[in-house]
Amino acid sequence: MSSWLWVPLGLIGLLLLGLLAYWQFVITEGTYLGQWMVTWLYDLTANRYDGIKQFDDDMEAIYLGRPLATALKSTPVPLICDIGTGTARLPLALLAQPTFQGKIVGLDDSRQMLRTAVSKTGGYENRLTLIWRDTTHLPFPDAVFDAVTCLEMLEFTPSPRRQLAEAIRVLRPGGILLTTRRRGFDARMIPGKTFTVAQCMTLLEELGIVDVQVLVWQVDYDLVWGRRDGNAQAGARPILEILLCPRCNIPTLVEKRQEIYCEKCSTLYPIRDGIIELR
Ligand SMILES: C[S@@+](CC[C@H](N)C(=O)[O-])C[C@H]1O[C@@H](n2cnc3c(N)ncnc32)[C@H](O)[C@@H]1O
Repeated sequence: MSSWLWVPLGLIGLLLLGLLAYWQFVITEGTYLGQWMVTWLYDLTANRYDGIKQFDDDMEAIYLGRPLATALKSTPVPLICDIGTGTARLPLALLAQPTFQGKIVGLDDSRQMLRTAVSKTGGYENRLTLIWRDTTHLPFPDAVFDAVTCLEMLEFTPSPRRQLAEAIRVLRPGGILLTTRRRGFDARMIPGKTFTVAQCMTLLEELGIVDVQVLVWQVDYDLVWGRRDGNAQAGARPILEILLCPRCNIPTLVEKRQEIYCEKCSTLYPIRDGIIELR
């Protein structure tokens, strides 16, 4: 091959590499490279996350806080689980609602996202528990939450289907599910991790969710509301009553100064800067 041909070929190669990197790290946020990559990228960008998202308090109240508080109004002190809570967007929208008197547990695999969450939620310490943990397996028994929320996160998990099933496992019959469906061009760029509206409805029905509503929300996301079939009472319980030791998978945890201790396997889980480190 003539030597001058190497120049355009090299440029094309560089362009393709750049496009591949953009797809892997920006569009799919590392989801095909493993959970560690997703978490590392969120750790890296945590202090810019809110600036990038430009959350508007009024919009958060209209689309998230108010409808969720209304859906929960028949439970006096509801308990909510926010999976992939990030910088506490959902907890803040809900806790700002005067009619909401419940408690929230927020979990995330990114320690830095949670650090930002702590800095934004001062004053709510008695109503918001933050847990550092991969949510592929949730450290709670079945059917303990009145609502489970999971916003803009399913497509970044190893298996969105399994994550949804796990979310619904901890939701009580009659409880509210609020999640998101990636939509638009980006959804097509994340194959195997996103759902069409029809796939989303079918999957949720298979998992026992009824009254499913898929509502256009943002350019990239629909909001997906549903209710777990059946009816059972839940309501807020002290966190240590429902928190399972990740090793023993039973509620054997007690609080000792700045740590949580498992009475069965003696593992110590630190509480640092207001975050329970259950890793
Ligand atoms: C786009 S952010 C959404 C955060 C928040 N729900 C919101 O709407 O602003 C996705 C979040 O999911 C978290 N995440 C992704 N995979 C996770 C996993 N397997 N376990 C726990 N958190 C995870 C990331 O660390 C990140 O904070």
